[in-house]
Amino acid sequence: MSTETTENPQAGAAHGTVPSGIQDIAFATGHYSFDLAHLAEKQDIDVNKYYIGIGQETMSLTAEDEDTVTMGAAAAQRIIDRNGTEGIRTLLFATESGIDQSKSAGVYVHGLLNLPREVRTIETKMACYGGIGALQMALGIVARNPEEKVLVIASDVARYDVDTSGEPTQGAAAVAFLVQANPDILAIEPAQGVYTLDVQDFWRPNHRNTALVDGKFSVGAYLDALVGAWNDYRAHGGVGFDDINWFCYHQPFTKMAVKAHVRLTEEAGTPLEKAEAAAALAPTFGYNKQLGNSYTASIFLGFLALLDSDEEIAGQRVGFFSYGSGAVSEFFVGVIQPDYRDHLRAEEHQAILDAREPVDYDQYRALHPGTMVQPLDNYKTQRQTESPFRFEGVDEGSRIYGKS
Ligand code: COA
Repeated sequence: MSTETTENPQAGAAHGTVPSGIQDIAFATGHYSFDLAHLAEKQDIDVNKYYIGIGQETMSLTAEDEDTVTMGAAAAQRIIDRNGTEGIRTLLFATESGIDQSKSAGVYVHGLLNLPREVRTIETKMACYGGIGALQMALGIVARNPEEKVLVIASDVARYDVDTSGEPTQGAAAVAFLVQANPDILAIEPAQGVYTLDVQDFWRPNHRNTALVDGKFSVGAYLDALVGAWNDYRAHGGVGFDDINWFCYHQPFTKMAVKAHVRLTEEAGTPLEKAEAAAALAPTFGYNKQLGNSYTASIFLGFLALLDSDEEIAGQRVGFFSYGSGAVSEFFVGVIQPDYRDHLRAEEHQAILDAREPVDYDQYRALHPGTMVQPLDNYKTQRQTESPFRFEGVDEGSRIYGKS
């Protein structure tokens, strides 16, 4: 992999347009953490199946009074505190663990953050791809009017049934970021490789809290989609494999990214062994190993880990691969901007991880919502979270949110 910088750090703007991309990025997670050692002990298996085999150590769990809205609002609050609201005319909320069939979760966040009324707010959904889909929409809005900014939130609670293969890959987190012209962190190049194929590898019917997944099939579907998106990227003016310095994959579990990188290097004609691929991707794993799968947020947490790592990456190209089961995927590239380090907050991010309250197996089971959505129109949640925002319960079918 090349460690050269590109000649033009804002490379990639389409001819005659202003470069645009990510100006600032922040994350939030659930109140609790659960070490996979407890799960392995209960299942009487070697914990290294999880720590090494799938590359996951702990998962975040949401408190009873947290959900995708409270995590998304907490992440977005950080962006607003640092950047203000000027120029933001669109809020895109990406999630595959939506809390209403009609109303965008983003509208609740809009209310909690007291954002100006002159904002369009919608929710995007396509499994784990929804956040990258929102990013591409945001880039389109900024290309049309470079004065405008878009607040994107990707927030998810990943839940599978207990005693299933997906159980160790649960998790919860939200990422918020600001998309604008002439960004300080990442300028996104115009070439995009896209790929859609109707496959039934992972889905969540309306009556379920938990996703259904054909685990091994989904791994194969991810790898096929990667090859499809990569070849489309190359066919649409994308740079060659050797021109990309870092790769940031969707990480449902971090080992998935290693499998993907091995497959991509084969396709690109420069095959890497598993250990070499793992070493090349290691700077992107730190947060996802601790948070678990966060669906739409996962790829951005991989990127945040790379930014916060010891690597000096100014001027270098990062290749992004997003996969949403079902399946839609995309490959594109961004260039790290010269002053990106001015926006880094590795200590703050570590503090968010450390602030989680560890739980044992019985507490984990008590927090797990079970398979079926409970048809309750009225209930109150207990006060558990220390997040700035709470999900207070349901009143005559309306979800009620408040500040802590
Ligand atoms: N030490 C080290 N590695 C170990 C181990 C041990 N003691 N025991 C097992 N492993 C390894 C296995 O060799 C395997 O490695 P490999 O994938 O490189 O072959 C890995 O751990 C997983 O073991 P496996 O038996 O395949 O696990 P599983 O069948 O229980 O489940 C998934 C694996 C991915 C199918 C499961 O986690 C899942 O369903 N995940 C959710 C779906 C998903 O995220 N899909 C991704 C696309 S979105």
